[in-house]
Amino acid sequence: MHAARSRTLAVLALIPSLLISATAAPGAVRAGAAPDPPHAATAPGSTPRTLAPTPPMGFNNWNAFGCDVSETLIRETADVLVSSGLADAGYEYVNIDDCWSLRERGPDGRLVPDPVKFPNGIAGLADYVHGKGLKLGIYGDAGTATCAGYPGSLGHEMIDAQTWADWGVDYLKYDNCNNQGDGSQQDFVRRYTAMREALDATGRPIVYAICEWGQSQPWTWAADVGDLWRTTGDISDNWASLRSIIAQNAALAPYAGPGNWNDPDMLEIGNGGMSDLEYRTHMSMWAMMAAPLLIGTDLRTATPETLAILGNRDIIAIDQDRLGVQGAVVSDQGGLMVLDKPLAGGDRAIALYNSTDALATVSIPVRETGLRRAGAYRLRDVWTGQVTQAESVISAGVPAHGTVVYRVRPLADPAAVPPQVAVGGTLGNLIPGGLGDGTLVGTVTNRGVGALRDVRVTVSAPGGWTVDAIGDTRRRSLDSNASLKTTWTVRVPEQTTAGRYPIVVTADYRWGPRQRTTSTASTVVSVVITPPGPGRRHLSTVAPVSTGNREGPVETDQSNGGGADNDGNLITISGRVYHRGLGTTAPSELVYLLGGACTRLVTDVGIDDGSTSGTAPVTFTVYVDDTAVASSGPVSLGAAPVTLTADLTGALWLRLVTTGGDGGTGGAAHADWAAPILSCGDAGPDDPVLPTERTIYSFESGTEEFTVANPGSGGTVAQTSTFHTEGSHGLTVSTPKDGNWFGRTFAEPLDLSGADRLRFDARAGGLGTVGEIAVQVGPDFAWCQGGLWTWINPHASRTVTEEVSDLSCPAGVTLDLSQVRAVWIFLNGGGEVHVDNVRAEYPE
Ligand code: GLA
Repeated sequence: MHAARSRTLAVLALIPSLLISATAAPGAVRAGAAPDPPHAATAPGSTPRTLAPTPPMGFNNWNAFGCDVSETLIRETADVLVSSGLADAGYEYVNIDDCWSLRERGPDGRLVPDPVKFPNGIAGLADYVHGKGLKLGIYGDAGTATCAGYPGSLGHEMIDAQTWADWGVDYLKYDNCNNQGDGSQQDFVRRYTAMREALDATGRPIVYAICEWGQSQPWTWAADVGDLWRTTGDISDNWASLRSIIAQNAALAPYAGPGNWNDPDMLEIGNGGMSDLEYRTHMSMWAMMAAPLLIGTDLRTATPETLAILGNRDIIAIDQDRLGVQGAVVSDQGGLMVLDKPLAGGDRAIALYNSTDALATVSIPVRETGLRRAGAYRLRDVWTGQVTQAESVISAGVPAHGTVVYRVRPLADPAAVPPQVAVGGTLGNLIPGGLGDGTLVGTVTNRGVGALRDVRVTVSAPGGWTVDAIGDTRRRSLDSNASLKTTWTVRVPEQTTAGRYPIVVTADYRWGPRQRTTSTASTVVSVVITPPGPGRRHLSTVAPVSTGNREGPVETDQSNGGGADNDGNLITISGRVYHRGLGTTAPSELVYLLGGACTRLVTDVGIDDGSTSGTAPVTFTVYVDDTAVASSGPVSLGAAPVTLTADLTGALWLRLVTTGGDGGTGGAAHADWAAPILSCGDAGPDDPVLPTERTIYSFESGTEEFTVANPGSGGTVAQTSTFHTEGSHGLTVSTPKDGNWFGRTFAEPLDLSGADRLRFDARAGGLGTVGEIAVQVGPDFAWCQGGLWTWINPHASRTVTEEVSDLSCPAGVTLDLSQVRAVWIFLNGGGEVHVDNVRAEYPE
């Protein structure tokens, strides 16, 4: 045990990202206070800084490789940039991120490149990169240590800038971890200006990328300091991250211009966590937002599709347009956004972006854009190359998560150009076996000049499905800006499994003086829902057929916070904390398909302790089909949870309804269904609840030897009864500001085979924290960590989740979950954090 512990610590000392300061929390601060008028980029009479007249383009290793950076990687990437043609397309900077130096400065006080990773030093590498006609970037930090714990430049600005200049570095990304600051804007200005002055003093032109995650609103102060500034927390390779970053960065258009770019972070294109359609949205929106284009994938193994997205010259031309204007948001409704970007020469790029989960027709009248008035417009789709003409509205059927980008200009003679036709469609959820046929409504709109002739709409669905038209599907003539609406019944065969299925709506038509025939198609995604399988399971893991809520989305395993997804806290009713349940705002209704398969629902209900605006009593009622089978009666804020039990035998539908909650108080009451458990099939009351969990630390018998991994870095733990999500106790951790790992090694290896997630519940004190989970496995206690962390706001609570598939172990080690030697959680911020229920979760 003792030997194991010291080995643990030896391993830990090598682990990056131990030193994440409280302010390092991505997403902690939301960009977007009301914009002031933009600053002039330079004072009158002074020489403009022209190092980045258009947004920088290049590569950075962080998104694909993290700390695993080396001379070989950078050289090979430079080679591929040239051989693939990407360099010719404009990708110029090859940037090294964190972890390139030794842990200690040299005797002369200078940063020292890690000689194993960079045998020829940074200077040698710079020569190589310059020899390829490219430029080299490096990474530093405006704090005492970088985010991964390497030496920071705070207080060493002059010597570090000079070192980089001496090496021939052309670009500096300057990060914000361990910044020792007080969080004030003056502090950010001071730290980032110190490096500006140091770079200037070297006399070498070095692009300066400020990377403080938008925390001090650099767009309001950094125009004369940096060439670009990050506006958000770190991007990750998933749709939720992309969507949220677009929403934050799009609002900052007025602040961008030549030499002053908003930086919504590096590209994830090619990294595998999103579809190519989502990656095209990534590229499209970065170009529309005049964002830096820094490739973040392994170019040596990139697919042709990835290279085609990154190398699309038409989209790059929009990003790099010499006017240097970030596209303005000209419409933003219900998740559909339109951006308008003026281009040199008078064209405009118009992007139709659909962030919703269903096909949508996204439209903008030309008069709401900056295009000058004309009788017709030429639209060139920069992804398909297709050219169409529109009369007065720019519009398209845009798939879920997709973006259509047109390069638009006035068109004198539209007669020979095919008309722009928008095909849209809506379809509710489908249930197999005649229980829930769907109604598909297709809409075909002619946006071109001149009528369409002989319009014919057809729908194609997967094999075995039936699709029947209700009413007309043809029209002899469809005028400019007129629509043809068609209606269809869609029936799914009995044995269809739950999932998302494509249904294609196609319009065929003739147009123009020569009556040419063309067709336009869009894909409606249909969602097939089936009754839950046998067993007891958390209702929060069952997809509802429909939800209705007074305010914001119905939240899963948390209370309703505000209008956004995933912005609540752990469900808390009269002090009792639950890690499962559904957070609604009354009045609300959730409908589930049971299909006669289920027997029982047991749930606690109550008003969430976080319900500060809506405080009027709420009634919770469980309906099977149309009969109320259990009701709480009016429940008030602060009242203890009420337990409801409902017999569901034979029911086709389950409805959970809340009413009241708004009796004159103005706000919506946050009404929680806490830990609802649904029994189906022959499930007995003692069957395990799915998805099954195994508790690793419950803190019921004390601190359970839970301790700090690096004693030198500080932190203490104590058992508590004030916070727990199971049993009657949890743990209070007093965290050091720069954080520590907490946990313990096990006397015997723990077998967690088959688990797909590791989780714990936490409530932060007044300073907030990040939460992360790592494990040690095998005889060598190999350290496996995910690199992603979850930020918990001050006084907020959350379940922190680490997907096992996201854990990565050192080279040569496979993650053997049957041999888990330790489970650690990371906390920081310098305040108190309560935690409980560190557990493994198993898939169904
Ligand atoms: C921060 C930055 C990232 C990356 C890492 C490196 O999180 O925002 O882009 O540079 O640090 O540790």
